[in-house]
Amino acid sequence: MIWYPYEQMKTMRSPYKIINAEGVYLDTEDRRLIDSVSSWWSVIHGYKHPELNAAIETQLERFSHVMLGGLTHEPAQRLSDKLQSWLPGDLDYCFFSDSGSVAVEVALKMALQFFMNRKETQRTMVLALEHAYHGDTFKTMEVGDDEDYHFVLNAYGKSKYVVHIPTRIEALEKAFARYHERLNCLIVEPLLQGAGGMRMYDISFLKRARELCDQYGVLLVFDEVATGFGRTGNRFVADLVLPDILVLGKALTGGYIGHAVTVANRRVYEGFYDDNPAHALMHGPTFMGNALACSVALKSIELFEKQDYLSRIHKIEAITRREMKGFFDPRIKEIRIMGACVCIEVYDSASIAGYQQFAYERGVFSRPFLNYLYAMVPYIIKEDELVKVLSTMKAWFMIM
Ligand SMILES: Cc1ncc(COP(=O)(O)O)c(C=O)c1O
Repeated sequence: MIWYPYEQMKTMRSPYKIINAEGVYLDTEDRRLIDSVSSWWSVIHGYKHPELNAAIETQLERFSHVMLGGLTHEPAQRLSDKLQSWLPGDLDYCFFSDSGSVAVEVALKMALQFFMNRKETQRTMVLALEHAYHGDTFKTMEVGDDEDYHFVLNAYGKSKYVVHIPTRIEALEKAFARYHERLNCLIVEPLLQGAGGMRMYDISFLKRARELCDQYGVLLVFDEVATGFGRTGNRFVADLVLPDILVLGKALTGGYIGHAVTVANRRVYEGFYDDNPAHALMHGPTFMGNALACSVALKSIELFEKQDYLSRIHKIEAITRREMKGFFDPRIKEIRIMGACVCIEVYDSASIAGYQQFAYERGVFSRPFLNYLYAMVPYIIKEDELVKVLSTMKAWFMIM
């Protein structure tokens, strides 16, 4: 039987069974639902997109997968070339992997080994943010800061390798003043912290982070697994402040196949480029550079560029602001909007218990968590569909 994610199997309600998916819609036997979650924020072009389907089918005729150990192939080469030219600055060196968590692991390993290769062996610590979420593997759990996901780590006690700070510049400066000699990197979900509660913070924090990283030689890592490909209203936050290592996942393949990439800049890459075999990056997920994933990723990027997705995202944001304007309920602590993300934070999680079924009955799939009722819609959503998602969120507070 299936063991479902983040669920107490004994008490979970049975999941809605999807029999078809197309555009922004998920179909069950008896309902058509707008997917307001985009399958965990990844399906930016919607489901069953003809061009994405065709990209996979064409590659499938050739081969679906060959390993990158000792072999290479055109889809992986083309995707790394595309990312190299498309991403800002000298973020040129693409290490592929099969999921966002693994790609963050790779970034953290790169940052550590970069300094170990230089014999700066005291740099074993990572600076991370409070409420951070970077994945569910062990090191990503350690740099994450969310009890609800990762309380099992308490079994090990407090880590001496990670320090968490709030997204305040004074805290950042203080942490650098205290730990800079021991830090290998600062890792952040830039501007928008997703699974930690759709928390939004100011670009000035990232600008100062860049300055401090430069001043002290610490690597800056952006985990844009969730924020990348337009979610914040920027193509990448890395377009505004340049990191040394950038991690992309989720929407990389338009949500079609699990795949991710850790992109390093020249300085990082050169820290491994050496005659010494011990200085190599010892990592190699079996499915890295999967040919179907790379083919669909290339097509997804092409659609993103050709169809001016940033304008669509700005429109989604404008409609969301318009619909949420003046909306208030005493149970609501805050409504946050950034790009194609809206979050209603309530004081007490009990006040959104039951929302998922309420939305289901009104033709919307939603997955609130803790105190957060949110939507991260596919970018192809039409205005009336988006209004329906937002009205359903508001209706919950008006009716219940
Ligand atoms: C910011 C961030 N990093 C990493 C991950 C992990 O990605 P994956 O679920 O593909 O392992 C997530 C997933 O939600 C995420 O939001």
